[in-house]
Amino acid sequence: MKIIRVKTNSKNYDIKIGHDLLGSIPLKKLVSRKDVFLITDSKVPEFLINKLKRNLKNSSSKKINSIKINASESNKNMAYLTRVYDFLIRNNYSRDCIIFGVGGGITCDIAGFISSTFLRGVDFVLIPSTLLSQVDASIGGKTGVNHKGFKNMIGTFNQPSQVIVDTKFLKTLSKLEIQCGLMEVIKHGLISDKRFFSWLEKNLRQVLALKPKFLEHAIKRSIEIKAAVVSKDEKEEGLRAILNFGHTFGHALETIGDNKLYSHGEAVALGMLAAVKLSEINSNLEPDAYERVHSIIKKSGIATKLKKKINPKRLIKLMQSDKKKKRNLLRFILLEKLGKAQIMGIANNSKIENAIKNSLFY
Ligand code: GLY
Repeated sequence: MKIIRVKTNSKNYDIKIGHDLLGSIPLKKLVSRKDVFLITDSKVPEFLINKLKRNLKNSSSKKINSIKINASESNKNMAYLTRVYDFLIRNNYSRDCIIFGVGGGITCDIAGFISSTFLRGVDFVLIPSTLLSQVDASIGGKTGVNHKGFKNMIGTFNQPSQVIVDTKFLKTLSKLEIQCGLMEVIKHGLISDKRFFSWLEKNLRQVLALKPKFLEHAIKRSIEIKAAVVSKDEKEEGLRAILNFGHTFGHALETIGDNKLYSHGEAVALGMLAAVKLSEINSNLEPDAYERVHSIIKKSGIATKLKKKINPKRLIKLMQSDKKKKRNLLRFILLEKLGKAQIMGIANNSKIENAIKNSLFY
């Protein structure tokens, strides 16, 4: 088992990474004197949840209850969560309880949000079950729900007590889910570690085939990169925004596709391509950078062109209407060079339009 320690202003905690941890990882320290409440996504295989439940039963003498949710963007809202709060209240959960969230990114965001708000905040542990949530959503303490069509409009920064990354989950995922998670891994290399990016280029096939040694390295390095950024800027006052590389374009594409046409990973892949194109105009990026990013995405099996043609002006308008945007200037995360990101405001829409056309159009 590998352990990465995250140190933030609000809390220090461990991310534990290994294979087949759920049944054996020591949990006594976390749960021995606490009522436990599990929030699990219905897509997580029952045999894995049962392993965790048995481990919890052996570790705590207090009550253990669980609730299944149907994690989806359309259910990620306050109304859907009502029944979870109701359950906690009906079953007399007090502030001295601990919540476990088991599932993908949406479940982690929801479990973190409920834990932040129920009785003004209780402890929680995240057990991410998808590659995407293992390398991204479960790390760094962002929690939240959507509101009136805006993603993660209501939420908190709140760090968990622990994150347990069990690579056994990954065998239960579809190929597309692995490919999509890999986009966030590639993103971490691009924004902060050129050597890691080159390693991914070289070992992509082994990672995609879930070869344990390669998979663990990809996950561990990815988490280390994210944890280092979060430790420096927990609440996204500056630096942390670099983790949104590819996401400004990506979120707009997800919205245009009504959260159906593109999965998050597919949208981020296209977003990274547009962002690298835009970086070419604004920095001294290596001349082969675009080709390298394009090639690794293509080799991952993710589409590098739009599924449905759109007017770039519409995409820009959507990016401008992002409610979480600062002032009027569109802020992008661009690459200064491979392995180094910078945050830049771009006022010139035609530059953005050209970057979209020259990367995502056939
Ligand atoms: N996914 C971006 C962040 O956690 O800040």
